[in-house]
Amino acid sequence: MSGKRILLVIGGGIAAYKSLELIRELARRGIASRCIVTKGGQEFVTPLSVSALSGEKVFTELFDLDDEADMGHIQLSRSADLVVVCPATADLMAKAANGLANDLASTTLLATDKPVLMVPAMNVRMWEHAATQRNVETLRNDGVTVMDPDEGAMACGEFGPGRLPEPLEIAGRIEALLSDGPVLYGLDPKPLAGRHALVTAGPTREPLDPVRFLSNHSSGKQGYAIAGALAKAGARVTLVSGPVALQVPDGVDHVPVETAREMLDACQDALPSDVFISVAAVADWRPSRAAAKKMKLKEGGGDPHPTLELSENPDILATLSRKKKNRPDLVIGFAAETHDVDALAIAKLKRKRCDWIVSNDVSGDVMGGEMNEVALVTREGIEVRWPRMTKQDVATRLVARITEEFGDEADKIAAQ
Ligand code: CTP
Repeated sequence: MSGKRILLVIGGGIAAYKSLELIRELARRGIASRCIVTKGGQEFVTPLSVSALSGEKVFTELFDLDDEADMGHIQLSRSADLVVVCPATADLMAKAANGLANDLASTTLLATDKPVLMVPAMNVRMWEHAATQRNVETLRNDGVTVMDPDEGAMACGEFGPGRLPEPLEIAGRIEALLSDGPVLYGLDPKPLAGRHALVTAGPTREPLDPVRFLSNHSSGKQGYAIAGALAKAGARVTLVSGPVALQVPDGVDHVPVETAREMLDACQDALPSDVFISVAAVADWRPSRAAAKKMKLKEGGGDPHPTLELSENPDILATLSRKKKNRPDLVIGFAAETHDVDALAIAKLKRKRCDWIVSNDVSGDVMGGEMNEVALVTREGIEVRWPRMTKQDVATRLVARITEEFGDEADKIAAQ
């Protein structure tokens, strides 16, 4: 990690003293910290102690003649590989979520073009307040990594989530972001330039009649996050999506569809592509016959015992995987399982003949939620199991791994 540098924003909270431990732990790992201490932060730690530990000048004021001449706030926001806010107070997160910029910390967060990690710490009620949760969701949708606070007894005497995670854990997260991030954010900002990525996301809807359908709980969040991360990495992205309530990420071509058969057609039309990532929760069956008119209750003259006959939908992942012509170079599926997750994922990879499969356990709060816990399975078996993290983080890591794969492939061709 030597040579890496973070910009650490120390907010005003009782946990601010732990940021000193964090600076020391990062230094041990060869990561330098340049620090901003907010006004509130200075009530808990002094700029002098932060400077002594980081071995660097500490910044506190937006309108400081000397500091602006030395290192202006725009430069400060861009001179690091990663911006870390620790502790991230409710106030700092609210400002960042809404784009406010009225002090050095918030201005820096608005001006930065670097990835941002926020480590919240606050009273449990403040953390659980709808406004804070709304801000956290906005930040995560904006691509900010927000760690979950720890649960336990708090300085204020209450109990619950809101404690700052341990510095060791934060340092580990920083290290992971610094090692996965560079392909996406640092050294080569557009590693997938010139590549076409095809992604499916969301549920499909299979009509029963003009007003009713069969579907599932998929929110589309994981697929949209992957499409966004691919676009950030420079790929041309086609996102074929079932109906979801999400904003299409910047720079992504969106093809809206409803049914599995429409999704398959849209994917076929989008080929050729270098990589296909099948994240959609495609309905396995559709009603064999969709009624042309709204089905009626028996009082309205309808069938008193309607039965539903289902037909199997096409398997989009298997169809694209088995193509002789125009098969994408890298075909990645998702395996949503509720039991025997790994064994079933490996069997699914073989059955569908894809190159990789991301296995995830959907027995908990994954469908519709913010977090995911996945393992990446290749034809050789389980390559890596990632800890529970946001869907945005899963997207970042997966795209970093895809980039690596294409990089290796380019190296092999160059060596021939
Ligand atoms: N998939 C697909 N077309 C389908 C069904 C699934 O493209 N008709 C893709 C999904 O996008 C995912 C993978 O296949 O990448 C696995 O989907 P999953 O729902 O886990 O498995 P199924 O194939 O539906 O099998 P089962 O329901 O028996 O687990």
